[in-house]
Amino acid sequence: METLDTRDVDGHELIVCEDHAATGLRAIIAIHSTVLGPAAGGCRMWPYATTADALFDVLRLSRGMSYKNAIAGLPFGGGKAVIIGEPPKHKTPQLFEAFGRFVDSLGGRYVTAEDVGTTTSDMANVARVTRYVAGLRRAPGQAGGDPAPKTALGVFLGIKAAVGFKLGRSDLEGLSIAVQGLGNVGYDLAGLLAAAGARLKVADVRKAAVERVCDELKASAVAVEDVLDEDVDILAPCALGAVLNAHSIPRLRARIVAGAANNQLAQERDGQALLAAGILYAPDYVINAGGIINVSREYQGGATEAQVLEDIGQIPLRLTEIFERARRENRATNEVADEMARERLGARRQKMVA
Ligand code: NAI
Repeated sequence: METLDTRDVDGHELIVCEDHAATGLRAIIAIHSTVLGPAAGGCRMWPYATTADALFDVLRLSRGMSYKNAIAGLPFGGGKAVIIGEPPKHKTPQLFEAFGRFVDSLGGRYVTAEDVGTTTSDMANVARVTRYVAGLRRAPGQAGGDPAPKTALGVFLGIKAAVGFKLGRSDLEGLSIAVQGLGNVGYDLAGLLAAAGARLKVADVRKAAVERVCDELKASAVAVEDVLDEDVDILAPCALGAVLNAHSIPRLRARIVAGAANNQLAQERDGQALLAAGILYAPDYVINAGGIINVSREYQGGATEAQVLEDIGQIPLRLTEIFERARRENRATNEVADEMARERLGARRQKMVA
């Protein structure tokens, strides 16, 4: 195992890499901050073209987790793991056990869970060898399990908060919403939006996922390359990061961007461009915190699903606080959210020093 102390690199505390020939595991764990508690964040499996791509992704994601956990008021710091490989082709129980041993070697400084490309079954294999894992199957009524439905619920409530703030209405009846990505979160979100009376336009690179949502929810399909340009009230990115960039923002016609995808802004300054275009942006790590709220409650133990739902109910309130502060100060919402997260991290650091 190769260990780098990266206190000076992007503010990270630690980055560790694992190359386990016997199982083919190639993974990186990045710990951005343990100021608020053990670094918690999921494990992504993705066929990164280069190790540098994987490193860049894990660094951005782990910093996002510090901010996400801080804003959500959770007693956890921020970290993330990536496994370089193509799911499900490169998945084996042994690979996830090797990953579990890698997590365990950090002695609880990092707690893992599922993310894009990994599932509750994968986490069950991780849990064979370490206790520093959440997102496992749980008994009915208890906190935990697959985070995606809870993420979708938080995004749904966040969209309603954004609509209340920007459009001055409390319901979604008849509003048009484009959903990009119909995976674990996007599919559940589409169901909640349709039940609330929204008109959906949906896109996914997987044709079957689009057909399913169109059949079940009377959504209309749009081409993957057109979904960001749709003339809709709301755009909900639920697929990839960096979809909001210098190329896409001038073409957006939505008045609100609010979705689950992590790292939606290609660069921090893209938040400014959204502000200038009069588009309300719900900062990704604030609106998509439902999943981490769920798994962190599971990890702490003893919480019920009802308590998780109560915590998720705070997401729209936090967003509205950010929207109001951004409007008062005429600033981009992502800048305000980052500042609030840093304030919370800084306040805790000062307490520790005092
Ligand atoms: P997923 O992998 O189940 O779904 C992603 C979907 O996007 C897939 O159906 C995929 O085919 C589709 N997709 C990929 N490229 C696309 C493109 N160019 N255009 C349209 N669709 C495309 O992932 P999941 O769990 O639904 O997560 C979605 C996003 O939300 C990710 O960015 C993830 O990081 C973020 N997120 C997920 C959480 C969770 O609880 N699962 C928690 C917080 C954030």
